Amino acid sequence: MPSVQSNTRSGTSSPVQKTLKTWWKESTVYQVYPASFKDSNGDGIGDLQGVISKLDYIKSLGANIVWLSPIFCSPQVDMGYDVSDYYNIYRPYGTVEDLDQLTAAIHQRGMKLVLDLVVNHTSDQHRWFQEARSSRANPYRDWYIWKKPRYGEDGKPQPPNNWKSYFGGSAWEYDEPSGEYYLHLFAKEQPDLNWENPYVRAAVHDVIRYWLQKGADGFRMNAINLISKDQSFPNAEVTDPYSPWQNGTKHFACGPRLHEYLQGIGKILKQYDAFSVGEMPEVYDLNEMLRSIGADRSELSMVFHFESVTLDHGHGSKFTSRKWDLHELKSIVSRWQTFMHENNGWNTLYLENHDQPRAVSRFGSDEPEHRASSAKMLATFLGLQSGTLFIYQGQELGMPNVPKHWGIEQYRDIETLNHWNEITASDPLNTPLHEACLLEYRLKSRDNARTPMQWDDSPNAGFSSVRPWLPVHDDYQDLNAVNQVNDKDSVYHYWVNMLRLRKAYPDILVYGSFELLCPEHPDLFIYTRTAPSGRALIVTNFRPREVPWSWPIAEVAYVASRSGEVVLSNAGRTSHTLSNTITLQPFEAFVWLSGTETSRL
Ligand code: NOJ
Repeated sequence: MPSVQSNTRSGTSSPVQKTLKTWWKESTVYQVYPASFKDSNGDGIGDLQGVISKLDYIKSLGANIVWLSPIFCSPQVDMGYDVSDYYNIYRPYGTVEDLDQLTAAIHQRGMKLVLDLVVNHTSDQHRWFQEARSSRANPYRDWYIWKKPRYGEDGKPQPPNNWKSYFGGSAWEYDEPSGEYYLHLFAKEQPDLNWENPYVRAAVHDVIRYWLQKGADGFRMNAINLISKDQSFPNAEVTDPYSPWQNGTKHFACGPRLHEYLQGIGKILKQYDAFSVGEMPEVYDLNEMLRSIGADRSELSMVFHFESVTLDHGHGSKFTSRKWDLHELKSIVSRWQTFMHENNGWNTLYLENHDQPRAVSRFGSDEPEHRASSAKMLATFLGLQSGTLFIYQGQELGMPNVPKHWGIEQYRDIETLNHWNEITASDPLNTPLHEACLLEYRLKSRDNARTPMQWDDSPNAGFSSVRPWLPVHDDYQDLNAVNQVNDKDSVYHYWVNMLRLRKAYPDILVYGSFELLCPEHPDLFIYTRTAPSGRALIVTNFRPREVPWSWPIAEVAYVASRSGEVVLSNAGRTSHTLSNTITLQPFEAFVWLSGTETSRL
């Protein structure tokens, strides 16, 4: 404990505990990306039996909710985010009986199951869309969004407005036989459902009820804030003068009827005390987010915002280069943390998922000498904030982005490949541009997160007995789950310890208030979590070098009159090695717990 005494007040005032307690706030979610988790039947693709075989591993880590990315029937244009049948399982993943078995196995272990609900759009192979497409008079026609063309001077049909698709090109696809365009905010094989139609809402409600009755404990709701569109479908403002297609988000993110639709869903969820997390891209207004998750709203439990994970997206496209900045990260985190605490909302905590690159490569360092320490530092930074924590498979091992030698032939992701095709078609001889794009893919392509899980050092990393659908990372012989489970000093065990700490002190680490310290510090992210029962000080060094640091006076004042201890460290730091001024090791992280007994650990 620091020796400086101070006659200032011996602590900040205890925050008012406004946050209501529920089971899902105290939970930790482990996201499984089925195709890349564990292949049990030797076809190179992960499956549900594979997930069952690894449930004990997930439980030992300390997670208690398993979120499965989409498992329903799908032509896999977008890895299952294009559903062609909401009531059956994609064959290579297994059957409904396998899912029943998995649900039971999860529940036997006292854990919960969360499914991915993809209902902003379906696959173009879904029966509803096949019907809708078959004729303008078909009763399903109005289940999707159809518009008449505009006509250019050449008399050729043009899309009804200038919205661009998230996966490149126009967001409208012309259907020649019926002479109309349909809307697809993502790939053309993912037509948007028309939520204005009550039959669509009823059909989605049926899907939700069906899986809750079968034992699911909740849903992650894909792109859910895009379901209500401005019905005048206006042109988007031109922000990219070099493209005919513009970002129309303003006209369909959190649209006019979103909350009415979410309340319709929320009513069903409430009957089952179900968990829900809504994916909400492109929203920066916290009050708008609060309308979806406020304790009095009966809509969703929590939302994923995108502010932290778009910090390195350049103008116009995620593949435009931009360096992320620690000050910006601080201000985003601190804004969300304090706002939700003060307004009885709730945060999600994530740095990785199937759409994001690996955190260690993005926010830490994947150089051999720093990979493990920066992965542990990021676990500390993320995991002790206020909110429900989401861990993406392999994050607990510190898995990095794809190897540097990957060429475009290795990538499978539709977003990456569409971008590449667009660039190489429009500028075929511009080799420097192509190289710059490849560099950006190694930093931000979604495939960075999708390489198979590295279970052991056997061929194919113990993921499969055959060559997997996406190459295994070269580093699997060294970096794998077996090695880390057997090594008490590994990234895996650090996560276990961090989660144990979080669980031991829910009053402080789940429900406590958040305060950012040293906001101007250029290298360190430091914060406190405080409850009437005590306080945790979390210190993290985001740099690959030593950084000197002095305890902030306010903190000294708080701890001076209380006992405390270092309860977590990635650099062997103990209470004895703490003095008023210390030198933090590269990517060092530690947690000082004070004002409470530490025997709960
Ligand atoms: C968000 C999902 O996370 C992503 O993987 C998918 O491509 C889009 N929504 C479209 O469904």
